[in-house]
Amino acid sequence: MKKNDLWKVIYDDYVPDHEPLREALFTLGNGYFATRGAAEECDAGGCHYPGTYLAGGYNRARSEVSGRIVENEDLVNWPNWLSLSFRHENGSWFRIDDVQVLDFRQELDLYRGLTTRTIEFEEEDGKKTLLVARRFVDMNNPHFAGIEWSLTPVNWSGKIQIRSALDGTVINSGVPRYRELSSEHLQPLETGRFDDESIYLRVQANQSKTRMVQAARTKAYRGDAEIPVEREYFSKVGYVAHLFDLECREKETLRIEKIISLFSSRDRAITEPVLEARNALSDAGTFEVLLESHAHAWAELWHRCDIDLKDGDENTQIILRLHIFHILQTASVNTIGLDVGIPARGWHGEAYRGHIFWDELFVFPFLNFQLPELARSLLMYRYHRLPAARRAARKAGYKGAMYPWQSGSNGREESQVVHLNPQSGKWDPDSTYLQRHVGIAIAYNIYQYYEATRDIEFLTAYGAEMMFEIARFWSSLATFNKRRKRYEIHGIVGPDEFHTQYPDSDKPGLSNNAYTNVMAVWVLRTALDFVDLLSDTRKRELFTELKIDDKEIERWQDISRNMFVPFMDNGIISQFEGYEKLKELDFEKYRKKYGDIQRLDRILKAEGDSPNRYKVSKQADVLMLFYLLSSDELESLFRRIGYQFNRETIPDMVDYYIKRSSHGSTLSRLVYSWVFSRTDREESYHIFQESLKSDFEDIQGGTTAEGIHLGAMAGTVDMIQRCYTGLEIRGGILWLNPRLPREIKGFNMRIRYRGHWIWLHFTQHRVEVSFESGRSPQIQIGFVDKVYELGEGDCKEFLL
Ligand code: BGC
Repeated sequence: MKKNDLWKVIYDDYVPDHEPLREALFTLGNGYFATRGAAEECDAGGCHYPGTYLAGGYNRARSEVSGRIVENEDLVNWPNWLSLSFRHENGSWFRIDDVQVLDFRQELDLYRGLTTRTIEFEEEDGKKTLLVARRFVDMNNPHFAGIEWSLTPVNWSGKIQIRSALDGTVINSGVPRYRELSSEHLQPLETGRFDDESIYLRVQANQSKTRMVQAARTKAYRGDAEIPVEREYFSKVGYVAHLFDLECREKETLRIEKIISLFSSRDRAITEPVLEARNALSDAGTFEVLLESHAHAWAELWHRCDIDLKDGDENTQIILRLHIFHILQTASVNTIGLDVGIPARGWHGEAYRGHIFWDELFVFPFLNFQLPELARSLLMYRYHRLPAARRAARKAGYKGAMYPWQSGSNGREESQVVHLNPQSGKWDPDSTYLQRHVGIAIAYNIYQYYEATRDIEFLTAYGAEMMFEIARFWSSLATFNKRRKRYEIHGIVGPDEFHTQYPDSDKPGLSNNAYTNVMAVWVLRTALDFVDLLSDTRKRELFTELKIDDKEIERWQDISRNMFVPFMDNGIISQFEGYEKLKELDFEKYRKKYGDIQRLDRILKAEGDSPNRYKVSKQADVLMLFYLLSSDELESLFRRIGYQFNRETIPDMVDYYIKRSSHGSTLSRLVYSWVFSRTDREESYHIFQESLKSDFEDIQGGTTAEGIHLGAMAGTVDMIQRCYTGLEIRGGILWLNPRLPREIKGFNMRIRYRGHWIWLHFTQHRVEVSFESGRSPQIQIGFVDKVYELGEGDCKEFLL
């Protein structure tokens, strides 16, 4: 990567093996749909995978695996609208892999949301051509996208033919591990043309019946003058194309513009996708016109969301922006009201089938302070699935809402029951669905959103109901151990997915996972606090509707004061009950034998062993407590439950668990980096840097190509936004307590806090807080340990 521009990711070589990763990193999206950064002229195959994904565009299919029928819900790979190529008279269609690449440069302009691929190539017969391909997926009008090809014959003149297609013959084959599973989700419905210039394709997902229409208009230009062309229409089942001839002259550039419109039956305020796609396309301006409004929409987003590092490491700046870029491409203002959640892997690939996990826990903090209206919409995804969560709890014999570990279209549990271990080639049973802590993440997100916004209407109408139902679930799951005189939680799995059951047991599930138990207490306590936030009328309404009575409130009180938390003899919180009895693993031995041991679970299982037998973890588990709650909050929670908790022991716990972690999840380093930030800034920054590179350098060796890791991306941005700045809301006041790592000289950012716009400038020695505009003329800002008042338009400087 060249470092000449802090808004650009640039590669100046074409390496087929790197294409899958670059396709993921160069994905363009607008919060409504996304398309991988694949070469227009290449179909899926070899190193190319031109996937297009609709936010929330799922489909279910059954497959036979190891003799049993499993049903999976997949994020559908929709028709490939990129398809564009050219050929000489009697020649074959251009593909980058079939020519000699003389010069190559590929750039992602983060500021404008534009990719540019410049290739100079030579064909077998010595013809040299320069191709500059530009592309955007419209952030302004989410139903548009555009491609522009500028073709310059370097040493030849002659006739060429252009082919511009919409290809619905695609399948889901983006993840090698899933290839044995059903991959055909699309049913072709119709192909056609609206007029001489435009073609369309209509398909539907075969189970969900979600329909999509793509329409394309392809034109050619010499300079700004349109070249009249005779278009030949070609169609076959699921595929439609326009072909036309162009006369090329040596050293003269011709431009081909392909503008598409894309609608689906999930859209709001439409009659019928075909009609909408036609109307939209007939209104659409040229590539340049659309690009301008698209770039303007991005500029607005960057005005709100950028973190502008001053004199910091250039790579850190670019990658941070890349992360913000991908968050906003996955969920943006265009997502508001779409009834979609935050997918763990973005809409960038097919890994985890586009499912929604707890990873939104790492994404919300950023959105709460930048685009709270979007955060609200994403929380509504969970609210609309409350009936499904209630049904799941009831079916499992519990009360309240049991949210699924993996969620897709309708809130049903979408976790796989078997999972392919690429290390052994075997399908292993998968009990990770027992991660009931996903409900804790939802509750935490509701609370955090409310704290950042004071959106009492949301809380009253939706947030409190979810909080009560999640609290009720934990209350129904907790059982009282008379001997211990404490409540316990059994049969669950904590965040560390390496441990799903006891080594000597044949039943999945663990007892008293410390993170789950403590956070269940947090949920119950927060639910009790929420009761006090409601008006008497709303409280009466909700309590009647949900049949919450005094007895139930008393039980919440009781559990939240008498929960069991396991400790080891050395005073360290035990990941779960019985953890201390597990064996130590010789990490060195495994490192020597296998090199990369991030996925120790797969290695051990392939050896006929199991991670359940060892003190090894995939990711931070106990330490999630220190990630989510401040030491003050934790002390107060532990006091409530009646345990001594000494914050001085935190470094020992961090040390204990980091030694036993393989960081098999990209979320792991993030948490470690956060917890180190107050005790060992150098180490924290070191881990932060590793975390920052998770996707950019694909440190898991191949997983990024299947979809970015949005939790890790957003989490690193949040490290700057909240962690190193000490930004937190406490006692109704926004506090700052910055401790910048030495390597970060300074940065600016803007936050939205309870209806106010606040601009912040940090350096190693100074902080400036500027109250730009707001809902009230005054705000209170806490700095280190003192509260200050700022009027609208005031800028206050603090020295460190
Ligand atoms: C992690 C989970 C995470 C999931 C989706 C897994 O590898 O262990 O914590 O939710 O990936 O990103």
